Amino acid sequence: MVSFDLIGFKEKAVAIVEIVEGLEKSKIEIAKEIMEKNKNIKSVLEKVSRRKGKLRKREYKILAGDKNTEVLHREFGYTLKVDPQKVYFSPRESTERQRIAVQVKAGETILVMFGGICVMSIAIAKKQPNVNKIYSVELNPDGSKYALENVRMNKLSHKIVPIEGDVKTGCREFYNKCDRILMPLPLGAEKFLDIAVKCLKSEGGIIHFYTIGKEEDLFSAALETIGKKLKRLKKTYTVINKRKVLAYSPRQWKVCIDLMVK
Ligand SMILES: C[S@@+](CC[C@H](N)C(=O)[O-])C[C@H]1O[C@@H](n2cnc3c(N)ncnc32)[C@H](O)[C@@H]1O
Repeated sequence: MVSFDLIGFKEKAVAIVEIVEGLEKSKIEIAKEIMEKNKNIKSVLEKVSRRKGKLRKREYKILAGDKNTEVLHREFGYTLKVDPQKVYFSPRESTERQRIAVQVKAGETILVMFGGICVMSIAIAKKQPNVNKIYSVELNPDGSKYALENVRMNKLSHKIVPIEGDVKTGCREFYNKCDRILMPLPLGAEKFLDIAVKCLKSEGGIIHFYTIGKEEDLFSAALETIGKKLKRLKKTYTVINKRKVLAYSPRQWKVCIDLMVK
Protein backbone atom coordinates (compact mmCIF):
# COMPACT_ATOMS: atom_id res chain seq x y z
CA MET A 1 0.00 0.00 0.00
CA VAL A 2 1.18 3.52 -0.78
CA SER A 3 1.70 5.76 2.25
CA PHE A 4 0.25 9.25 2.27
CA ASP A 5 0.09 12.48 4.25
CA LEU A 6 -3.37 13.33 5.47
CA ILE A 7 -4.62 16.91 5.76
CA GLY A 8 -8.11 17.39 7.15
CA PHE A 9 -10.22 15.36 9.52
CA LYS A 10 -13.68 13.95 10.13
CA GLU A 11 -15.80 14.16 7.00
CA LYS A 12 -13.33 15.86 4.63
CA ALA A 13 -9.65 15.14 4.21
CA VAL A 14 -7.10 15.24 1.42
CA ALA A 15 -4.47 12.54 0.93
CA ILE A 16 -1.14 13.60 -0.52
CA VAL A 17 0.78 10.83 -2.21
CA GLU A 18 4.11 10.34 -3.91
CA ILE A 19 3.81 7.31 -6.17
CA VAL A 20 6.88 5.80 -7.77
CA GLU A 21 6.58 4.72 -11.38
CA GLY A 22 6.35 1.03 -12.27
CA LEU A 23 3.74 -0.18 -9.79
CA GLU A 24 1.31 -2.87 -10.91
CA LYS A 25 -1.73 -0.63 -10.50
CA SER A 26 -2.15 2.73 -12.15
CA LYS A 27 -1.89 5.87 -10.05
CA ILE A 28 -5.59 6.51 -10.49
CA GLU A 29 -6.48 3.00 -9.33
CA ILE A 30 -4.30 3.51 -6.26
CA ALA A 31 -5.97 6.87 -5.53
CA LYS A 32 -9.46 5.38 -5.86
CA GLU A 33 -8.47 2.53 -3.54
CA ILE A 34 -7.27 5.03 -0.92
CA MET A 35 -10.65 6.77 -1.10
CA GLU A 36 -12.54 3.46 -0.92
CA LYS A 37 -10.73 2.44 2.24
CA ASN A 38 -10.88 5.88 3.91
CA LYS A 39 -14.33 7.35 3.47
CA ASN A 40 -13.30 10.77 4.83
CA ILE A 41 -10.73 11.25 2.07
CA LYS A 42 -12.43 13.28 -0.63
CA SER A 43 -9.42 14.07 -2.85
CA VAL A 44 -6.10 12.42 -3.62
CA LEU A 45 -3.30 14.74 -4.71
CA GLU A 46 -0.05 13.57 -6.21
CA LYS A 47 3.09 15.62 -5.60
CA VAL A 48 4.43 16.56 -9.04
CA SER A 49 7.09 19.10 -8.12
CA ARG A 50 9.37 19.95 -5.25
CA ARG A 51 8.51 22.99 -3.17
CA LYS A 52 9.65 25.99 -5.12
CA GLY A 53 9.83 29.76 -5.33
CA LYS A 54 9.52 32.27 -2.55
CA LEU A 55 6.14 30.93 -1.46
CA ARG A 56 7.44 27.35 -1.03
CA LYS A 57 4.40 25.86 -2.75
CA ARG A 58 4.46 22.72 -4.86
CA GLU A 59 2.43 21.55 -7.83
CA TYR A 60 -0.04 18.72 -7.40
CA LYS A 61 -2.11 16.61 -9.77
CA ILE A 62 -5.58 15.56 -8.66
CA LEU A 63 -5.62 11.78 -9.12
CA ALA A 64 -9.15 11.29 -7.82
CA GLY A 65 -11.99 13.07 -6.08
CA ASP A 66 -13.04 16.64 -5.47
CA LYS A 67 -11.13 19.52 -7.11
CA ASN A 68 -11.85 21.71 -4.12
CA THR A 69 -9.12 20.74 -1.66
CA GLU A 70 -9.78 23.27 1.10
CA VAL A 71 -10.19 21.38 4.38
CA LEU A 72 -10.33 21.83 8.12
CA HIS A 73 -7.32 20.20 9.78
CA ARG A 74 -7.11 19.41 13.47
CA GLU A 75 -3.98 19.00 15.61
CA PHE A 76 -3.23 19.42 19.33
CA GLY A 77 -6.60 21.01 20.14
CA TYR A 78 -6.84 23.64 17.42
CA THR A 79 -8.42 23.73 13.96
CA LEU A 80 -6.86 25.11 10.78
CA LYS A 81 -8.48 25.92 7.49
CA VAL A 82 -6.04 25.21 4.68
CA ASP A 83 -5.81 24.38 1.01
CA PRO A 84 -2.54 22.54 0.44
CA GLN A 85 -2.59 23.60 -3.21
CA LYS A 86 -2.45 27.29 -2.29
CA VAL A 87 -0.15 27.51 0.72
CA TYR A 88 2.68 25.77 2.56
CA PHE A 89 1.44 23.47 5.29
CA SER A 90 2.99 20.31 6.68
CA PRO A 91 1.03 18.05 9.05
CA ARG A 92 4.33 16.29 9.81
CA GLU A 93 5.63 19.32 11.71
CA SER A 94 3.03 19.27 14.49
CA THR A 95 5.51 17.80 16.99
CA GLU A 96 8.06 20.50 16.15
CA ARG A 97 5.40 23.15 16.75
CA GLN A 98 4.73 21.69 20.20
CA ARG A 99 8.43 21.56 20.97
CA ILE A 100 8.63 25.31 20.43
CA ALA A 101 5.28 26.06 22.10
CA VAL A 102 6.24 24.43 25.43
CA GLN A 103 9.28 26.71 25.73
CA VAL A 104 7.29 29.94 25.61
CA LYS A 105 6.86 31.80 28.89
CA ALA A 106 4.02 34.03 30.04
CA GLY A 107 4.38 37.64 28.90
CA GLU A 108 6.59 36.97 25.89
CA THR A 109 6.28 38.99 22.70
CA ILE A 110 7.01 36.81 19.68
CA LEU A 111 7.63 37.37 15.99
CA VAL A 112 6.97 34.45 13.65
CA MET A 113 8.68 35.32 10.38
CA PHE A 114 7.40 33.39 7.34
CA GLY A 115 4.25 32.57 9.32
CA GLY A 116 2.18 30.76 6.65
CA ILE A 117 -1.36 30.04 7.81
CA CYS A 118 -0.40 31.02 11.40
CA VAL A 119 -0.09 27.44 12.58
CA MET A 120 3.02 28.06 14.70
CA SER A 121 1.46 31.12 16.34
CA ILE A 122 -1.73 29.22 17.11
CA ALA A 123 0.18 26.25 18.55
CA ILE A 124 2.04 28.65 20.86
CA ALA A 125 -0.98 30.68 21.97
CA LYS A 126 -2.95 27.51 22.75
CA LYS A 127 -0.12 26.09 24.85
CA GLN A 128 0.80 29.40 26.54
CA PRO A 129 -2.41 31.45 26.83
CA ASN A 130 -0.54 34.14 28.77
CA VAL A 131 1.80 34.99 25.92
CA ASN A 132 1.73 38.78 25.40
CA LYS A 133 1.45 39.04 21.59
CA ILE A 134 2.49 37.02 18.56
CA TYR A 135 3.09 38.75 15.22
CA SER A 136 3.09 36.50 12.14
CA VAL A 137 4.43 37.88 8.84
CA GLU A 138 3.61 36.07 5.59
CA LEU A 139 4.17 36.98 1.94
CA ASN A 140 1.62 34.68 0.28
CA PRO A 141 -1.77 36.45 0.13
CA ASP A 142 -3.55 33.08 0.35
CA GLY A 143 -1.47 32.21 3.41
CA SER A 144 -2.42 35.52 5.01
CA LYS A 145 -6.09 34.99 4.23
CA TYR A 146 -6.04 31.59 5.96
CA ALA A 147 -3.97 33.04 8.80
CA LEU A 148 -6.63 35.65 9.56
CA GLU A 149 -9.40 33.10 9.36
CA ASN A 150 -7.55 30.58 11.52
CA VAL A 151 -6.79 33.13 14.22
CA ARG A 152 -10.46 34.15 14.33
CA MET A 153 -11.70 30.54 14.25
CA ASN A 154 -9.50 29.66 17.23
CA LYS A 155 -10.60 32.83 19.09
CA LEU A 156 -7.05 34.16 19.35
CA SER A 157 -7.44 37.61 17.76
CA HIS A 158 -6.47 39.24 21.07
CA LYS A 159 -3.12 37.41 21.03
CA ILE A 160 -2.09 36.88 17.39
CA VAL A 161 -1.65 39.57 14.74
CA PRO A 162 -1.30 38.12 11.21
CA ILE A 163 0.41 40.52 8.80
CA GLU A 164 0.58 40.13 5.04
CA GLY A 165 3.98 41.34 3.89
CA ASP A 166 7.64 40.73 3.23
CA VAL A 167 9.85 40.10 6.24
CA LYS A 168 12.55 42.04 4.38
CA THR A 169 10.62 45.30 4.51
CA GLY A 170 7.79 44.73 6.96
CA CYS A 171 9.46 44.21 10.33
CA ARG A 172 10.62 47.69 11.28
CA GLU A 173 7.72 48.10 13.71
CA PHE A 174 9.03 45.15 15.75
CA TYR A 175 12.58 46.45 16.27
CA ASN A 176 13.59 46.06 19.95
CA LYS A 177 10.21 44.56 20.86
CA CYS A 178 10.53 40.76 20.81
CA ASP A 179 11.62 38.08 23.28
CA ARG A 180 11.57 35.29 20.71
CA ILE A 181 11.76 35.04 16.93
CA LEU A 182 10.90 32.01 14.80
CA MET A 183 12.58 31.75 11.39
CA PRO A 184 10.94 28.77 9.63
CA LEU A 185 12.43 29.35 6.17
CA PRO A 186 14.98 26.54 5.87
CA LEU A 187 16.21 27.68 2.47
CA GLY A 188 17.26 31.26 3.07
CA ALA A 189 16.64 32.17 6.73
CA GLU A 190 20.23 33.44 7.02
CA LYS A 191 19.38 36.36 4.72
CA PHE A 192 16.98 37.65 7.38
CA LEU A 193 19.11 37.07 10.49
CA ASP A 194 20.08 40.75 10.75
CA ILE A 195 16.39 41.72 10.82
CA ALA A 196 15.63 39.07 13.44
CA VAL A 197 18.43 40.39 15.66
CA LYS A 198 17.09 43.95 15.34
CA CYS A 199 13.65 42.74 16.41
CA LEU A 200 14.94 41.26 19.68
CA LYS A 201 14.70 43.41 22.80
CA SER A 202 17.93 45.21 23.74
CA GLU A 203 18.50 42.71 26.58
CA GLY A 204 18.40 39.91 23.98
CA GLY A 205 16.21 36.90 23.34
CA ILE A 206 15.80 33.60 21.56
CA ILE A 207 15.94 32.84 17.84
CA HIS A 208 14.73 29.51 16.41
CA PHE A 209 16.69 29.24 13.18
CA TYR A 210 15.65 26.61 10.60
CA THR A 211 17.92 25.41 7.84
CA ILE A 212 18.80 22.37 5.75
CA GLY A 213 21.76 20.26 6.88
CA LYS A 214 23.70 17.52 5.10
CA GLU A 215 23.40 14.17 6.85
CA GLU A 216 27.16 13.71 7.32
CA ASP A 217 27.50 17.08 9.08
CA LEU A 218 24.12 18.52 9.98
CA PHE A 219 24.98 21.78 11.67
CA SER A 220 28.53 23.00 10.89
CA ALA A 221 27.76 25.05 7.78
CA ALA A 222 24.81 26.82 9.41
CA LEU A 223 26.72 27.44 12.64
CA GLU A 224 29.55 29.00 10.65
CA THR A 225 27.15 31.32 8.80
CA ILE A 226 25.37 32.26 12.03
CA GLY A 227 28.71 32.87 13.78
CA LYS A 228 29.96 35.20 11.03
CA LYS A 229 26.69 37.14 10.78
CA LEU A 230 26.32 37.66 14.52
CA LYS A 231 29.96 38.68 14.88
CA ARG A 232 29.43 41.30 12.17
CA LEU A 233 26.36 42.52 14.07
CA LYS A 234 28.49 42.65 17.28
CA LYS A 235 26.20 40.21 19.08
CA THR A 236 27.15 37.45 21.48
CA TYR A 237 25.19 34.23 21.40
CA THR A 238 24.89 30.75 22.84
CA VAL A 239 23.55 27.71 21.00
CA ILE A 240 20.95 26.34 23.40
CA ASN A 241 19.78 23.42 21.29
CA LYS A 242 20.12 21.92 17.83
CA ARG A 243 18.26 19.02 16.35
CA LYS A 244 16.84 17.26 13.30
CA VAL A 245 13.24 18.18 12.50
CA LEU A 246 12.35 16.09 9.44
CA ALA A 247 13.98 14.37 6.49
CA TYR A 248 14.16 16.92 3.66
CA SER A 249 15.58 14.83 0.80
CA PRO A 250 17.87 11.82 0.60
CA ARG A 251 20.79 12.59 2.94
CA GLN A 252 19.50 16.06 3.84
CA TRP A 253 17.55 17.11 6.92
CA LYS A 254 15.52 20.07 7.96
CA VAL A 255 17.16 21.12 11.22
CA CYS A 256 16.57 23.76 13.87
CA ILE A 257 19.18 25.66 15.86
CA ASP A 258 17.96 27.54 18.94
CA LEU A 259 20.08 30.55 19.84
CA MET A 260 20.14 32.86 22.84
CA VAL A 261 21.34 36.16 21.38
CA LYS A 262 22.49 39.18 23.42
C1 LIG B 1 8.55 26.82 4.95
S1 LIG B 1 7.09 27.82 4.87
C2 LIG B 1 6.62 27.88 6.59
C3 LIG B 1 5.21 28.33 6.82
C4 LIG B 1 4.72 28.22 8.27
N1 LIG B 1 5.62 28.87 9.20
C5 LIG B 1 4.52 26.79 8.68
O1 LIG B 1 5.27 26.27 9.49
O2 LIG B 1 3.59 26.16 8.14
C6 LIG B 1 7.78 29.41 4.58
C7 LIG B 1 6.75 30.50 4.37
O3 LIG B 1 7.44 31.75 4.24
C8 LIG B 1 6.79 32.55 3.29
N2 LIG B 1 7.80 33.52 2.84
C9 LIG B 1 8.86 33.32 2.03
N3 LIG B 1 9.60 34.44 1.91
C10 LIG B 1 9.01 35.38 2.68
C11 LIG B 1 9.30 36.73 2.99
N4 LIG B 1 10.37 37.35 2.46
N5 LIG B 1 8.49 37.40 3.83
C12 LIG B 1 7.39 36.78 4.37
N6 LIG B 1 7.07 35.50 4.12
C13 LIG B 1 7.85 34.80 3.29
C14 LIG B 1 6.30 31.56 2.24
O4 LIG B 1 5.23 32.07 1.51
C15 LIG B 1 5.91 30.35 3.12
O5 LIG B 1 4.55 30.41 3.47
